[in-house]
Order: sequence, then structure tokens, then C-alpha cells
Amino acid sequence: MSPTTSDTSAEPLIPSGGSPPEAVLAEIEAARTADADWRGGRTFSLIYNTGDHVLEEMLEEVSRRFLHENALNPYAFPSLRRFESEVVDATAELLHGTPRAGTLTSGGTESILMAVKTSRDIARAGGRPATNLLVPRSAHPAFAKAAHYLDVEERRIELGDDLRVDVDAMAGAIDEGTFLLVGSAPCYPYGLIDDITSISELAASRDLLCHVDSCLGGWMLPWWERLGRPQPVFDFRLPGVTSMSADIHKYGYTFKGASTVLYRTRDMVRQQYFFFDGWPGGMYGSPAAAGARPAAPIAGAWAVIRHLGEEGYLRFARDTLEAFNAYRSGINLIEGLAVTGEPDFCSFEFTADPGSEVAVDVGAVGDFMDDRGWHIDRQQGGLHLMLSPYHARVVTEFLSDLRAAVAAGGTGRGRQATYGGVG
Ligand SMILES: Cc1ncc(COP(=O)(O)O)c(C=O)c1O
Repeated sequence: MSPTTSDTSAEPLIPSGGSPPEAVLAEIEAARTADADWRGGRTFSLIYNTGDHVLEEMLEEVSRRFLHENALNPYAFPSLRRFESEVVDATAELLHGTPRAGTLTSGGTESILMAVKTSRDIARAGGRPATNLLVPRSAHPAFAKAAHYLDVEERRIELGDDLRVDVDAMAGAIDEGTFLLVGSAPCYPYGLIDDITSISELAASRDLLCHVDSCLGGWMLPWWERLGRPQPVFDFRLPGVTSMSADIHKYGYTFKGASTVLYRTRDMVRQQYFFFDGWPGGMYGSPAAAGARPAAPIAGAWAVIRHLGEEGYLRFARDTLEAFNAYRSGINLIEGLAVTGEPDFCSFEFTADPGSEVAVDVGAVGDFMDDRGWHIDRQQGGLHLMLSPYHARVVTEFLSDLRAAVAAGGTGRGRQATYGGVG
């Protein structure tokens, strides 16, 4: 077969003859040499690194055992049905939700897509046009994507001075087409928890649905609360909250492919399911967006909860909280740099301090750190860090390089602010 890439000198993508596994694995290793070194704690997003080898090896074994199974038909694999419902219920327990009122999905984006779809359908079943949802400007782009897929309008609401959504502005933007108000707990860019009490009260007072995106915080903030950290209530304890998203593949510490979407009632989750009875293949029923569903993330999510238990989650929560305090105060102590806002969570921005006499080009700081092997995301206002338990081990080295970066000065090479990407 001839090459199908634009690079005509490339090997054919489907070789005429196969290669033995060792050769394929060697090629894979060679291809990975430029990949981010997340194990050393130098990557700040994408991976939630615990540094716990026993946990890692267990997850590798679980994924090996469930590599070939398919969760499309839960009756063929009752183990997966059990794991899925127990993971959903464990998350509901953590967030004061209702047992059996949610599903697992492949990730935060799918959970958000499902929550927006279900909310739209519930509102329409109640006779409303349900044409728009109101989300904070800092909310994850998954809401924009959901709105695009579902052909509803996403209206981004400005943030107040504290960088949390301006709830008065949200109230002013409600019209007869509005069906859903959204808050983040926390948002990714600044690690701030929106005023979920006010958003959910506003939703309830206007007979609207209210989704709390706790994809990031859902598996961390409840442990911080148990450790005695002061933080606002953001979950189903607030009566106006009607749905939530919380990812196990983030601070639940399993591998990618596991998030939960939860509803206040079992009736609501039923609106998420899709059934089709007009096919010669038989009745088709599907809880979320995917058809065939990988089994390994379901088993992995269950296994990590079993393995860590409350004690393990509290240990990692304490490590991450300590790391968060150390990075935040260490950065604020560097003349010329400042953390943006007063983050509630270990996902936050830092940038040039506008009140400092030391003028810093934060792009140059990022480039310097890149050259020292750190992978720090750029966002529109500055540099972004998201901390995992392992980052507690590299804080001294990080802050020392950061001080050196500020001292080096210079001008940035202009690397763009990006999140995710299209290859
Ligand atoms: C607050 C928040 N919501 C949603 C998402 C989307 O999750 P996923 O990347 O698993 O689709 C993210 C991802 O980082 C996030 O930070």
C-alpha cells in the first residue's frame, strides 16, 4: 500500500508485512522520547501523579484484565455493572447525592454533554423552549462544545472582581429560553469555586436547573473539607443543585476514561438514557454518549476507590494541600510574580505582579522553565499550574528555577496560550 500521509518519503502506514511485538514496542519507545516526563513531577496538567507505584501497578494489572471486555452490554459482564453502580454511588456519597442517580462516562466533557442534554430534555418535557444555558466565562469549554452539539446557545457570563461569576449578571441574562445555570467547583483557569449557593438559589427561584461542574474538585474538595479546610458548600447539600460532574480520572487517581455525571433524582438520570427499538439488531439502550464502552476504566475506577479508601484519599489530599500552600506562597514571595486571585483549589494561574517594581515578562519565565524541563501551560493571563500529590516532592527545585527565571529576565518567544489541541 502506498503512503497516505503528505510525507511521500514515509513508510507505508499499513506495512506489507507485520513486525514482531518486540520490534513494534521498540518503535513505540523510540516515538515516546519527546513525550513529557510526568513521572518526575515536571508536568502540571494532564496527569494526576501520585508517585505511588503500588497503585500504578495495580491499575496496570486491572486494565490488562479488562482490556478486551465491552461495557456496551452490562448483562454480559455483571462485574462491570456492579463496578459502575458502586463507583457512581461512591461519588454520590462523597457529594451528598442520591444513590443510583448517575452514570459513568468517558470523561468530564462527556459528563457535561450528558448533563446539558438531560437538563434540556427535562425542561422541554416541562413545556419550555430550553434554548440557552448560562455559564461563567471561566467555565470549561466542554459547555460550549455541548451547546454546539445540542444546538442550544451557550451564554458566557462575566466574572466579578474576585474572578467568580457575577451572579447578578447571570440573573439579568435569564430569559424565557434559559433552562440551565452553571457554576464551577472549581474552574480550571483560576481554581476558584463560584458562588454555588447563590447560583443554585437563583436557579430554584426561577424554576431552572443548575449544574455544578466539579470535574476537578469532586474527588478532592470533600477530603479537604474533612481535613478542616474552610471552603464553601458546592454539592447536593444545596437544594437547588440538580446535577453535578465529578471525574475519577482526575483526583480520583485512576487512568483516563472515567467520570461521573450525577443527578438529584433517579427520575432525572432516566432522561439521560437513549433507547431505540426500530432496528433489526434488537432493542438498543445506552446510558451515555458512547456505544461500545471500554471496560478497563470502569474496573480501574472501582479498583482505585477500593485500594485507597478514605485513608488513602485523605493522605493524597493532605499532600496536595501542602503542595498547594507551598507553591502559592513561594510564588507570591518572588518579587515580580503573583498568583491570580485567591484560589480555592490547586489549579491556578500566576503572572507578572502589576503592583511590583520588578517588570517581568511572564512568557520569558515560561520559556526559561521549559528550557529547564518543566511543562507549564500558558493561558491568556499567565502561566498555569495544576498540582498533584507528587508535586510536593519538587517544590524546592521548582521555586529555585522560578526565581532563576525571573532573575534571567528577557522577552518571551511568544508561545501561544493553548489548552488541548488538534493535531
Ligand atoms: C473544571 C473542568 N471541567 C471539565 C473538564 C473536562 O474534563 P475532560 O478533560 O475529562 O473531558 C476539565 C478538564 O480539565 C475541567 O478542569
